[in-house]
Amino acid sequence: MVSTRDPVSRFPGPADTVTLTHVDHADLVHGDRRRTITGNRQTSWAFAEAYGVDHVDTAADAALSWAHSRAREAGLRPVSDGTGSALRLLAAATDAKAVVEIGTGTGVSGIHLLHGMRPDGVLTTVDVEPERQQFARQAFRAAGFAGNRARLIAGHSLDVLPRLADGAYDLVFCDADLQETLEYLAESLRLLRAGGLVCFEGVFADGRTVDSAAQTADVLRVRELLRTVRDSEELLPTLLPVGDGLLCAIKRTR
Ligand SMILES: C[S@@+](CC[C@H](N)C(=O)[O-])C[C@H]1O[C@@H](n2cnc3c(N)ncnc32)[C@H](O)[C@@H]1O
Repeated sequence: MVSTRDPVSRFPGPADTVTLTHVDHADLVHGDRRRTITGNRQTSWAFAEAYGVDHVDTAADAALSWAHSRAREAGLRPVSDGTGSALRLLAAATDAKAVVEIGTGTGVSGIHLLHGMRPDGVLTTVDVEPERQQFARQAFRAAGFAGNRARLIAGHSLDVLPRLADGAYDLVFCDADLQETLEYLAESLRLLRAGGLVCFEGVFADGRTVDSAAQTADVLRVRELLRTVRDSEELLPTLLPVGDGLLCAIKRTR
């Protein structure tokens, strides 16, 4: 179920009260930018998710599989392969030397970020669960990254982030508590240099973000995040349809 309103505002409407109705998927885009969305779309998405995954070296691949297994045992959902390769690309595109990750988990996203960062880059990664970070530390080492490439900080993100330096980071990746995403955004704007990038994992919320029936607190918070990022004059956003939705925004230089 999708809205027939302007595509920019159709899902995250001003008060979550957009009029929703059944329309054909081809109506998701409009005017000259219309594209026919065919049945191949699902296959194309699956292809995109898998694309690039074979290009990581063997040690990193084995470390990723190991970190995935630890995540599964812990009941965590790490980033998908497609999201991982997008993060790797974004870290490389920003020539990232300093990255903050909110939500270390067992290290899957961290391996992708470290791969894209400069060889002397340092990933500062925060998680409230130190045992998970121990797995991440092992995974980073197994993937071939020197110990000084990752600074793992155990703690609640909203306690830790205020202690990090203003304007010192090239990229902030948020993958922890959906209820805190707006606070992560505010902290990211402070932490990022001009031209830096903030990314939020999971903004599709398994399809609930665009589902008129879904009104959970997490979904409402994600919609608020989407509106805030889209409307911010400080940010230049895009929403990448990888994994469960990766919202990315550049902190404008002016
Ligand atoms: C989805 S997992 C992160 C997965 C990881 N980014 C990956 O792809 O491998 C979310 C993590 O956020 C952590 N977390 C949840 N709420 C948090 C908070 N308020 N502060 C810090 N970490 C938090 C959880 O312990 C969990 O390890």
